[in-house]
Amino acid sequence: MPTTTVCFINQKGGCGKSSSTYHVGGALAAAGRRTLLVDCDPQGSLSQAFFGSAAVETLPARDTLAAVFDPAAVLDSPARLAVPTGFERLSIVRANQSLAPYNRPEPDREGLNQFLLRDALADVTGYDLVLIDCPPNLYLASWNAMLASDHVVIPVPPEDFGAQGLRVVHQALAHASRLNPRLRLAGHLVTRYDGRLLVHRAYEQKLRALYRDTVFEAVVPEASAFKVALACRTPVSHHAPGSKAARVMAAVGEELLARTAGGGVETDGMKQTSVG
Ligand SMILES: Nc1ncnc2c1ncn2[C@@H]1O[C@H](COP(=O)(O)OP(=O)(O)OP(=O)(O)O)[C@@H](O)[C@H]1O
Ligand SMILES: [Mg+2]
Repeated sequence: MPTTTVCFINQKGGCGKSSSTYHVGGALAAAGRRTLLVDCDPQGSLSQAFFGSAAVETLPARDTLAAVFDPAAVLDSPARLAVPTGFERLSIVRANQSLAPYNRPEPDREGLNQFLLRDALADVTGYDLVLIDCPPNLYLASWNAMLASDHVVIPVPPEDFGAQGLRVVHQALAHASRLNPRLRLAGHLVTRYDGRLLVHRAYEQKLRALYRDTVFEAVVPEASAFKVALACRTPVSHHAPGSKAARVMAAVGEELLARTAGGGVETDGMKQTSVG
């Protein structure tokens, strides 16, 4: 089975990109999929979720994703960067602040290499899925992730879409798909949903009306179980198997597999329906 690569993108901070990558990754590994997580964010949140901040911040750049972006380290083996997380079938390429200097704000400027991540991942085998966690911007790291991916997931909290700038995200996807024609939208994933809030219920409906079947049926609730699992450095699938939070993440993982197998949506078409 060929590897399916999925990036989690949104320029809005705190919308649940890292949390979704972490817990969906755990759910897919628990369901038997060999999963590689790639931390593509200089904040290193995904890496810290497994190993803690001190261990991640002190990692030498050569052991992190920065090695892929460093012109002096081109001969390094990308496969060496993938390390076990301690959970079966779940590995990670870690990142820390050493990635920051490479995350240039104008990714399509001449001279910047937009395909470093794609080329590095081409040498990495033995995984069913690669999930890439992106920073809250559309700079060179996210750009590399889009050009390395088959599918994109856009985590969206059900709040003011205007402030979230989804239009810019959709435009970036359309732009990236010209350089990476296999890029498809797996879907918008509603995150941090609180069904007690009228505003959340209204925005969820609005999102579904606007983006129709590109919105995941599964919805990630705002739940302390995710935070507790994270604090224990364990995806919720493994921290509290059988819990409601674990079941939700298993459903998101299954739906992601179905959506990627089904082909997803042309990213170019999203520009027309974008708001915000
Ligand atoms: N469904 C959820 N329920 C409860 N807490 C959540 C949920 N999703 C995310 N959080 C918490 O919200 C904070 C931000 O989430 P997360 O780090 O996943 O966002 P992000 O989009 O990756 O942020 P950034 O843009 O900084 O990378 C974290 O403390 C996380 O634990
Ligand atoms: Mg994050």
